Amino acid sequence: MRAIKAIYPGTFDPLTNGHLDLIARGAKIVDHLVVAILRNSEKGTPLFTVPERVEMISEATRGFGNVSVATFDGLLVEFARSQGVNAVLRGIRAISDYEYEFQMAMMNRKLDPELETLFMMPAEKYTYVSSRLIKGVFQLGGDVSGLVPPLVMERLKAKVPGHP
Ligand code: PNS
Repeated sequence: MRAIKAIYPGTFDPLTNGHLDLIARGAKIVDHLVVAILRNSEKGTPLFTVPERVEMISEATRGFGNVSVATFDGLLVEFARSQGVNAVLRGIRAISDYEYEFQMAMMNRKLDPELETLFMMPAEKYTYVSSRLIKGVFQLGGDVSGLVPPLVMERLKAKVPGHP
């Protein structure tokens, strides 16, 4: 049987427990999972540098025997091809994610018909969690513990001085 090597792409600025939950679910059903950080994201100025994000994800996924971390820019399908990947893993938290995810999946299929997109749902307790909200709430002094891995919490505290 053909081995499934999947790629889980994203900005991960920063990694949340929702991402980690999806990585754990994905790692259970594919042979190898590459968590791939987009280097040239159009989402504005990131809070964490790409090397910082690589460190955090590598540390948080150390316990998985079949997860690796990579970075890419340009088209996802090109990077996936260069890695010998046959599937893209994406998370759907709510119906509101669906339209954007469907469009991306269809565009990726147009660009590479051999590359399948797999959707998985994170645990219900993380359905409202996004990196954008985590950064916003934390920067305003809010408590985001339990929503990000402890090592990300430490990095947030170091990055945002004066936080309680
Ligand atoms: O979780 P995110 O941050 O919304 O991830 C978006 C990501 C990285 C999956 C997407 O922006 C992407 O794949 N960018 C690479 C450029 C590309 O291939 N675009 C065409 C796909 S529609």
